[in-house]
Amino acid sequence: MPNAYISGTGFFVPPNVVSNDQLINDFNIDTTNEWIVQRTGIEERRFVDNGVGPSDLAVCAAEQAIANAGISKHDIGMIVFATLSPEHSFPGSGVHLQRKLGLCDGADATFVPALDVRNQCSGFLYGLATASSMVQSGNVKHVLLVGAEVHSHALDLSTRGRTVATLFGDGAGAVVVSATDEDRGVRGWWLGADGRHADVLTQKIWDTRQKPFIPLDEQGVGQVHPEMMFAQMDGKLVFRNAVERMIGALFTAYSKKGLTHEQIDLFFFHQANLRINQYVADQLKIPHDKLVSNIQRYGNTTAATIPILLAEAVESGRLKKGMKIAMVAFGAGFTWGSAVVDW
Ligand code: ACO
Repeated sequence: MPNAYISGTGFFVPPNVVSNDQLINDFNIDTTNEWIVQRTGIEERRFVDNGVGPSDLAVCAAEQAIANAGISKHDIGMIVFATLSPEHSFPGSGVHLQRKLGLCDGADATFVPALDVRNQCSGFLYGLATASSMVQSGNVKHVLLVGAEVHSHALDLSTRGRTVATLFGDGAGAVVVSATDEDRGVRGWWLGADGRHADVLTQKIWDTRQKPFIPLDEQGVGQVHPEMMFAQMDGKLVFRNAVERMIGALFTAYSKKGLTHEQIDLFFFHQANLRINQYVADQLKIPHDKLVSNIQRYGNTTAATIPILLAEAVESGRLKKGMKIAMVAFGAGFTWGSAVVDW
């Protein structure tokens, strides 16, 4: 059985930087820079221009990851696309990415499978578990795994929506998961979910139990109430469960692999909230200088947070071959996961 390792990383964030003060000045949101920074650590985020979707961001991240892996896009045997903000209800963004990468063009079109992962902030780790299992099975040599989100077009950027709207940003991260005979790569992954909390953090938009699934006005035009259209969250409950589940997921990784945090060089936590991550680190006595963070600059980019962190850490030289790293995420569903990788 081959090992599955991350052979290339890439990321892309849109150039438009939106500071906390711009949320106040440009969108008239009743908030303060201090409120947001103290509770979340977020100083700014990126917003896409009109007309840009998650698969557009994903193309840039994916091309970088493929180049860094030293392979051709035609070597990719499968696409796994994690997002909670696909362009449309269906199909998912994976096929859009496939087409935009040019994998359907010309005589060398590959028509590789494109799988969409819908596990929100845990999407990248659910995707990594899937990609590494595909590679270890021997069926696929290189899997392109992407996390990409366009949140800004679906945020209630007003005082009414401030609790959620101040947290999120747009971006994409990508990795190539490849087969190797070297003694390195994904050493284990551990995933979980608790459907009792499925309604605690949601963006419902429609309800297919109802006929019609979106209420219609007299002209037959769908009417979506703001509570259905925009994400709703019980922030305190999310916070408590995030802390508990992230600690649990890391403990599982430690015990399954016989590790302590001293043996782990760097930790890549999902970037939802700096306070959540620092609290988890303090509970586990993880020194803060082992935490890789970028929430200050990008906010929460959901499925993209961990692959963007990885790509930035590789680019800056902080993450090097031979290091042992741990990743952990928690998100809507609730869902969570952890993974240990020998880089
Ligand atoms: N600016 C100013 N005031 C605000 C803002 C804002 N951006 N947002 C909310 N408030 C107000 C509320 O209206 C409320 O006012 P009131 O007391 O007059 O009603 C007050 O602040 C307190 O609101 P809470 O929601 O209770 O604030 P809390 O201290 O819980 O902080 C926060 C909110 C930061 C969202 C926190 O609950 C949290 O971090 N939760 C974790 C959620 C999270 O990270 N979600 C990300 C997605 S899930 C994931 O990726 C894991």
